[in-house]
Amino acid sequence: MDRYAVIGQPIAHSKSPSIHAHFARQTGQVLEYTALAVPADRLAEELQRLHALGLRGLNVTLPHKQAVAAQCESISERARQAGAVNTLQRTESGWSGDNTDGVGFAADLKRLGIALRARRVLVLGAGGAARGILEPILAASPALVAVSNRNPWKPEALAESFKPLGEVLPRTHVALKGDRFDVIVNATSAGHSGQMPLMPSGLLAPGGDCYDLSYGPAHAPFAAWAVRQNAARIEDGLGMLVGQAASAFEIWRGVEPAWEAVIVALRRELQVGTDTDLVAAVHAPVHRSHVELPPQD
Ligand code: ATR
Repeated sequence: MDRYAVIGQPIAHSKSPSIHAHFARQTGQVLEYTALAVPADRLAEELQRLHALGLRGLNVTLPHKQAVAAQCESISERARQAGAVNTLQRTESGWSGDNTDGVGFAADLKRLGIALRARRVLVLGAGGAARGILEPILAASPALVAVSNRNPWKPEALAESFKPLGEVLPRTHVALKGDRFDVIVNATSAGHSGQMPLMPSGLLAPGGDCYDLSYGPAHAPFAAWAVRQNAARIEDGLGMLVGQAASAFEIWRGVEPAWEAVIVALRRELQVGTDTDLVAAVHAPVHRSHVELPPQD
């Protein structure tokens, strides 16, 4: 049987095995997909070992998305531009690396009907997650794209490396005071420690949308902030997670799964899970109509 895995650490809560099991069932593909804990200092040898064991493909998650590129025989142009690899495909003598995060993000925005064209887009964060989504953002002909970050040097470097694809305005969060955006995308990992970067208020234009690459409990701080900004739409990153997995599945198996149905199934699965973190994590993306407004700040 063809075998696949997701590697990372921590990995116990990864949804990827469940998502790929859905895809396999739905498309009638016979395969096995497991989650493997791989510490940072064992990445190179584990990749060799999994290749020797005959695995057909791997997904790569934290903390390896950047380090894994150096272990690949070749990487795609979009993975090189993103500076991160999330999908490995077996070659005869090693692994070829790709990045499907941008495809997943673009597909999810399309599914949700959130347009970027001619809108002012702000990306919060300038790490690997932000790099992974900038190509589709720039390709969507927005009015402008700004990237803001706590560390002031990172957006400068990021803007420089994306120059061939379009203009990215480097900012710090505080320097945004007085600016207005139609779409704000949270690509920071702050939510994983229960935080939201400190931002000036009034950043979101009336009718503006907020999209978070995080989901589950990590989505809560940004969702609460977005509610206070009167966002028209507030969406979490579960759809992007399933979308990037669907793109990896297609690379490996040559079949595109109907991934929108899997988002619904995944939310339902998480709701009936026994893990308290996951149960707490499961809320449909916060639409203003189902949110109790916290006090204004
Ligand atoms: P990822 O692959 O998830 O992008 P990363 O490359 O480590 O991970 O980047 C994490 C991003 O979240 C960075 O932009 C980081 O800001 P700094 O570069 O200033 O560290 C941002 N981030 C993480 N925690 C944050 C917090 N508490 N407040 C603001 N930004 C935070």
